[in-house]
Amino acid sequence: MNRLIRAVIDTHALRHNLRTIRERARGARVMAVVKANAYGHGLIPTALALAEADAFAVARLEEGLALRAAGITQPIVLLEGVFAPEHLLETARHGFDLVVHDPLQIELLEEYSGAARFLIWIKIDTGMNRLGFRPEEFPDALARIQRLQPAPLEIRLLTHLARADERDDTMTREQLARFKKATSGLEYAVSIANSAGLFGRVQLGCDWVRPGLALYGGSPFEDRSSAELGLHPVMSLETSVIATRKVATGETVGYGGTWRASHDSVIAIVAAGYGDGIARNLAGGTPVLIDGQRAPLVGRVSMDMIAVDVTKLNGVHVGTPVVLWGVGLPVEEIARYAATIPYELLCGVSQRVPLELR
Ligand SMILES: Cc1ncc(COP(=O)(O)O)c(C=O)c1O
Repeated sequence: MNRLIRAVIDTHALRHNLRTIRERARGARVMAVVKANAYGHGLIPTALALAEADAFAVARLEEGLALRAAGITQPIVLLEGVFAPEHLLETARHGFDLVVHDPLQIELLEEYSGAARFLIWIKIDTGMNRLGFRPEEFPDALARIQRLQPAPLEIRLLTHLARADERDDTMTREQLARFKKATSGLEYAVSIANSAGLFGRVQLGCDWVRPGLALYGGSPFEDRSSAELGLHPVMSLETSVIATRKVATGETVGYGGTWRASHDSVIAIVAAGYGDGIARNLAGGTPVLIDGQRAPLVGRVSMDMIAVDVTKLNGVHVGTPVVLWGVGLPVEEIARYAATIPYELLCGVSQRVPLELR
């Protein structure tokens, strides 16, 4: 019991998910998205476990530097590119691949006076309206990048899907059509699919896929579970019971007294709270696995504790193992009780939660 809450990371599940993704990707290469501390799973251990990935993608330069410092030699793509000359120098020094999505980034490359040749991913905005050149701006951006000196090592093209997780695939088809139109006649390698694009119904036809959530065993869809997609949960957020108490009919539990016992109850106090990244708005009734059996969360989430109604379970005691999400309790199910998405719960696991690799 020296380690109460911990995020157990199943590296076999990570590799299983990568294999599942590869089968689904039909020969496309896999760029494993490991930004945001590998969605909370630990940047370095995740990248090391995914040695078979064809490349890694990160959002920030610092994430790329951390990967290189850990000895990762695969290509590393900076999904947002760089914004300052000194960052371009770092990019050259560490051999990062660059996404270019803004004219200012082209200027930066035009003004670069070093000898490095960059692998450049040009991002086309096909409807997400976040990053990228609009289709009508793309030919000019491409021409400028083609004229760079030294010449780019390679040019590739990408876009990002806004609604691939939805049942209605109209927007995905529109984005695909815009991308195809903008890139028609060009022979550069392309990348479109995130996890939802990869497992969705629309055939996207990419040379590279860019899964994040699916690698970690999460389903991006409301109506299809990760098990249905053949994915295994990678993170199990485990902890244990630190107290139990009998609560008489009419008594309340926790801050604000928001839960009142309608009959004599047994409550387990579990070592996990918003200080660990457990969403404070988790609804009453959220399932918690107590020694493998589901029991409902009651009352408010505190900083270090939650309360669980274990009246219907036998033998719950101090030290009884608890799972908040993971094997047997999909993170996407818990996300619904917090009115959020699995991404936010996984990324939100706090610094004080130790990662335990298995
Ligand atoms: C540009 C880009 N590609 C791929 C991904 C991976 O998305 P997902 O985790 O849904 O697979 C992300 C994540 O936000 C992204 O920003």
